[in-house]
Amino acid sequence: MRPLIIAIDGPSGAGKGTVARAIAAQLGYRHVDSGAMYRAVGWKALRDCVPLEDEAAVATLADESTIDITSAHVRIDGIDVTREIRTPEIDRAAAAVARLPRVRTVLVGRQRRLGIDGSIVMEGRDIGTVVFPHADVKVYLDASPDERARRRANDPAHSGGPKGLAEVATLLTERDELDRTRATSPLYAAEDAVVVDTTGKGVEVVVAEVMAVIKLKS
Ligand code: DC
Repeated sequence: MRPLIIAIDGPSGAGKGTVARAIAAQLGYRHVDSGAMYRAVGWKALRDCVPLEDEAAVATLADESTIDITSAHVRIDGIDVTREIRTPEIDRAAAAVARLPRVRTVLVGRQRRLGIDGSIVMEGRDIGTVVFPHADVKVYLDASPDERARRRANDPAHSGGPKGLAEVATLLTERDELDRTRATSPLYAAEDAVVVDTTGKGVEVVVAEVMAVIKLKS
């Protein structure tokens, strides 16, 4: 099989992380979570007291940072922030910096470079629409709001979060709204993406469906 670029987009809690990781492992591809880049930039902006709405300052900060993403770790300027970036505070900071066009330009450039040789599964919100509009395979994962909130509430990677499911659901809806309504690269399914509804489906079933799409397109 030729080295493919596989784009997996969708809202939080749709199962992108688990599915993208499993697909990359099966194919021996690199897995990149592009959201972790926005999270790392949000984390550093908060640490350095850079106002999240100061587009020029946050874009400069992003441009001057080294961000290393492996399937196990996220590092910014050599600091391991894998756990620190999965908190409600960073959920908000990441969504805020992801609204800034100049920050997106910096991070999209890096994401494209990571995909230059193919053999990559990249997950995010705009991978099939903006980052790799010519991706070989585009999958858009979705699930009902209730199911997405349940998954997020049970995700051990997210720490320090609100306890009640209702609160998780409210925060998730707010953040989805930010992602879907922002002017630059809002979240939506590319015209040529295959939409997979993961509601009520186990990981193996979804991975098998996505692998079937990949076989068809490769
Ligand atoms: O997938 P995530 O929740 O870790 O993403 C963090 C934030 O970054 C979220 O608000 C959506 C945004 N994001 C984005 O705008 N574009 C991407 N390609 C990935 C994430």
